[in-house]
Amino acid sequence: MRKKIVAGNWKMNKLHSEAFVLMRELEEALSKQTTAADVLVFPPYLYLQEIQSLASKIKVGAQNCHWEDVGAYTGEVSAAMLESVGVSYVIIGHSERRNYFNETNTLLSKKVLQALNHNLIPIFCIGETLEQRNSGKHFDVIKQQLNDALFHLTPANFSKVVIAYEPVWAIGTGVTATTEQAQEVHAYIRKVIKQQYSDSVANSISILYGGSCNAQNAKELFACADVDGGLIGGASLKPNDFLTIINSI
Ligand code: PGA
Repeated sequence: MRKKIVAGNWKMNKLHSEAFVLMRELEEALSKQTTAADVLVFPPYLYLQEIQSLASKIKVGAQNCHWEDVGAYTGEVSAAMLESVGVSYVIIGHSERRNYFNETNTLLSKKVLQALNHNLIPIFCIGETLEQRNSGKHFDVIKQQLNDALFHLTPANFSKVVIAYEPVWAIGTGVTATTEQAQEVHAYIRKVIKQQYSDSVANSISILYGGSCNAQNAKELFACADVDGGLIGGASLKPNDFLTIINSI
């Protein structure tokens, strides 16, 4: 059985007190129910530890990490530091990091190794732009991203990674991939993993969908055979919506 995961990426949202309110509301609601999925939240670095101190049902992760352990990298946070405060997940390769901070697959491959070396589970994001999809290159783009950033890993290490398929054209746009589009790409990702590693590795990897997933469409997306949950941006900032999404698994 593959692990089901619903993850909330808060991005650069919520002031300190707002972040607390959101986390408290989520924890309180989840304390009264069971969930079929692991629930994760990714607050800004600044609040990580405090949010973590409120976490009981929810696991807390970081939105990024550096590719080195220590050093003169002003403004950066290393995987070693995240490990030292008990963080267990890290998002790597989000399209916003790729676009606004010029993170390449080569760089991201180093970050993934760092995360794994420090016992963090990487949620590794891949996905095509609208232009790439419209020109029919989306499968090639995804294969290249997997190849360049992840396929250097040993099977044992690769098996620890969670993949998030996030078509760039669906992120924050309100345009969601159809269930057919999502399932098609998720099945393709699993096929490529199988070719590189094995059937059992491919079948054990959780592949999340991300991109305008919301309280209305989560259920049908999560019902797709190869969709193992979601990486949620905007809708994870609203407790009721996020809870509905969690309960859509
Ligand atoms: P969105 O973001 O749900 O707001 O589209 C998803 C993501 O960026 O992970």
